[in-house]
Amino acid sequence: MDYWTISLSIVIGAVGIYYLFKEFNYFKRHNIIHMPPVPIFGSMLPLVLRRLSIAEFAENLYYFNPDAKYIGLYAATQPIIFIRDPELIKETFIKNFDNFPNRIGFGYINDPLFSKNLFSLQGQKWKDVRTMLSPAFTTSKMKTMFTLMLECAVDFAKYLSEISTDKNDMDMKDAYTKYANDVIATCAFGIKINSLRDPTNDFYVFGKEATNFQGFLSSIKFFLFGNFPKLVKILGLKFIRDDVGNFFRNVIKSTIDTRDTENITRPDMIQLMMDIRGKREAEKELTIEEMTAQAFVFFLAGFETTSTAMSFITQVILDKPDVQAKLRQEIDNVLENSNGEVTYEAINHLEYLDAVISEILRLYPPIAVLERLCEKDYELPPALPNKKPLTLKKGQVVWAPVYSIQHDEKYFDDPEEFRPERFLGNNTYHNSPYYAPFGLGPRMCIANRFALLEIKVLLFHLLARCELKPCTKTVLPIKFSKAVVMAVKGGFWLNVQRRHDIHPTIRSTTLKNDVTNI
Ligand code: HEM
Repeated sequence: MDYWTISLSIVIGAVGIYYLFKEFNYFKRHNIIHMPPVPIFGSMLPLVLRRLSIAEFAENLYYFNPDAKYIGLYAATQPIIFIRDPELIKETFIKNFDNFPNRIGFGYINDPLFSKNLFSLQGQKWKDVRTMLSPAFTTSKMKTMFTLMLECAVDFAKYLSEISTDKNDMDMKDAYTKYANDVIATCAFGIKINSLRDPTNDFYVFGKEATNFQGFLSSIKFFLFGNFPKLVKILGLKFIRDDVGNFFRNVIKSTIDTRDTENITRPDMIQLMMDIRGKREAEKELTIEEMTAQAFVFFLAGFETTSTAMSFITQVILDKPDVQAKLRQEIDNVLENSNGEVTYEAINHLEYLDAVISEILRLYPPIAVLERLCEKDYELPPALPNKKPLTLKKGQVVWAPVYSIQHDEKYFDDPEEFRPERFLGNNTYHNSPYYAPFGLGPRMCIANRFALLEIKVLLFHLLARCELKPCTKTVLPIKFSKAVVMAVKGGFWLNVQRRHDIHPTIRSTTLKNDVTNI
């Protein structure tokens, strides 16, 4: 090697080392207790190598120092403040929202479907889009969406109740993603499909492909895109294939064209975005790309979360005959009183079902950690009594450990016990920073009512027709798999059996509102 090659290698090496280590003294400098980092990965190595589940990773951080209000960690080279104290979480996420109005979300991914949707948007653009989309989730819109969901739930439950006994051991995660997919297709994209009967439809295949966040490759992909965006650009890496993105763009574009030319309206998200065209200032108008991104957020934020929640619910109750019996009784009472014509209001008044769902979202929140980006300087109090305050600067990231707080005995008696009764007639948790499966403050989940309705309608029709039991592949007690999302070892297997005491009205269930399909 000549002199120049050696010198150049030394310079590149030194710059590389400087880049990888330059922030690693942040917490030392500020005397903040923190997880020791390793080069390149910071504190994330156990997640990237799939040595820990996301819940175990969060627990390790949470109990790193049980007395501290917050501790530090590094995502690659980025210092992150992991806030443990619910009161401080309330201060940052709710009371001082102006200092923490954004999250990184999928903003770092160089694809507008990921970076331009509500989940990832920042600042004024986020405010505009949130204001524009909020009417899609009001009670009156929920009632119309209810009719769309109902069709999917009845299709789903009928399919499962008619399945032959040699095929009735099922991985419910797979089945629920099909239901979630059909709900998204009809409520957000205006397409009616039945993915359980037709699992090869493009919508399901492409949707699954775009949101497959499990597996080793996904961990690496997230890590690279999140921490080394310049490298990703240089290498020209894509988060999803072009044909997948183009498929969704084309669906939105052709649906809008068809509805415009044939004067069709339908109670869904596309319609909402179409209806406000031309009614806002020019700069606030959404392009087709931006409309697609908003509809696509149902996939990004709604596909995995709702199917995960439903999977945990049925996994937990499948060996609890008393809980299932109580749910069935509550459901059958509604059928009896409504003569099988179940309304939106009736579904929303199922108290025990609601308590079961709340308790599962406490035990297994699909999103284990919340994230915010600091926008304006903010002084955190000392993490420990003998320490100094810490001033956060623009661009710094804070996390809130939803999973760990919801499992802390300081806030919940017998936190590892499944006790839906703690939510019966008790709304106090829902208004506290101790319970945040849908997040906190102005950036909390815009679709929490939509999601709960989607889950309730499905469980209603499933449990009205079927009984759930363990099968040979069922793994109980539940153990988390080592993944960046909440998932379990061995899958969500169970055995589905048609109830022999199905309420007589359910056999005659008809859909009251027939809905146009486009
Ligand atoms: C059980 C199901 C669901 C759970 C547990 C859930 C949970 C969450 C959580 C924890 C957040 C972050 C909140 C925060 O940072 O404070 C969030 C945000 C969001 N969720 Fe959901 N979600 C669910 C279903 C859905 C569905 C079906 C949609 C469909 C549109 C959706 C759309 C969104 C959007 C757009 C955001 C970002 C809101 C914003 O930044 O303004 N979610 N969700």
